[in-house]
Amino acid sequence: MERISYSRGRFAEILGLTDKQLRAAERKHQLPAREAAGERYTPADLSRYRQALALRPAARPQRRQLFLNFKGGTGKTSLSSAYAYRLAEMGHRVLLVDLDSQGHASKCLGLEAERYELTLFDVLVKRTPVAEVIQRLPLTELALLPSNLRMSTVELALMPLHAREFRLRLSLDELQEPFDFVVMDAPPSFGLLNLNALLAAHDLIIPVLADFLSFHGLRLLFETIADLERDLELALQQVCVVINNFNPTTRIARQARTALEEHYKDYLLGTVVRQCTKFAQASSEGVPISAFLPGSKGAEDIDRLVAEVLPRCLPPRVEEPIA
Ligand SMILES: Nc1ncnc2c1ncn2[C@@H]1O[C@H](COP(=O)(O)OP(=O)(O)O)[C@@H](O)[C@H]1O
Ligand SMILES: [Mg+2]
Repeated sequence: MERISYSRGRFAEILGLTDKQLRAAERKHQLPAREAAGERYTPADLSRYRQALALRPAARPQRRQLFLNFKGGTGKTSLSSAYAYRLAEMGHRVLLVDLDSQGHASKCLGLEAERYELTLFDVLVKRTPVAEVIQRLPLTELALLPSNLRMSTVELALMPLHAREFRLRLSLDELQEPFDFVVMDAPPSFGLLNLNALLAAHDLIIPVLADFLSFHGLRLLFETIADLERDLELALQQVCVVINNFNPTTRIARQARTALEEHYKDYLLGTVVRQCTKFAQASSEGVPISAFLPGSKGAEDIDRLVAEVLPRCLPPRVEEPIA
């Protein structure tokens, strides 16, 4: 996370301050005026400024959001890590849960998953409290519940345990810290691990590619959800499908988008995440796109995704009785 930094302009923009307000705040609260020292602002600065200036969005009831598709390479990790980081940049308290033993979500944030001794495995199998396993980050609004290769035997280890499909939900319920969002990045498989994630989630966000191969996987996923709703206590509040890696210059992509709009119109988000080489580059360099290149297509589309998903996550309004 040391590689993430902000220009003064972007830093002020994230905090919703004008340049003049930022200067005044720096004087009043004796905060480090990075630019004057020839430096850039850091994620830790963002948290420190928020704290000093009390610039926090209101706390909200916790929302657990799972990025899932049984197919690999659709952008679960790219979107979930960028989305989680962006929410935390905006001041929401976010726990990013990496469910994949490949640890790519950590990598997208510039973190080395393999060095973590404790992982989600310990939470699920040994019932180690989540609070003991999560990693604190310089951007204090964001925490990571990591996975790495220690996770690879989790399916077998869970098999003989009681309540084996509810362990993630129970562990998150026991967590005292008031995270506004728990964002989960799923591996592309179906087993006990993803079942745990589904049963812990309020919302499902399904990244798909605009190609015809995606339809089969999507149908399978919707059938699985329907089965789980019937057989287990699955009650998702929202299911969203988001097209990722979209390239409108190919006819196939445009046709697939039209077909998705027809078949999944109740679920398909208006937001389309366009193909963006900078997005892929940002992930490989371990810098979230909103910090890597705020003006890029990828960063814009993540902003749109946040803007579209958040209003749907408000708690249901209590109907006033009609007098
Ligand atoms: N919008 C995008 N534009 C360009 N490349 C993307 C985009 N989304 C994902 N990618 C790239 O596609 C590959 C697969 O993405 P990833 O997030 O790892 O998928 P998954 O987690 O579903 O397997 C990665 O190399 C990633 O950098
Ligand atoms: Mg992934």
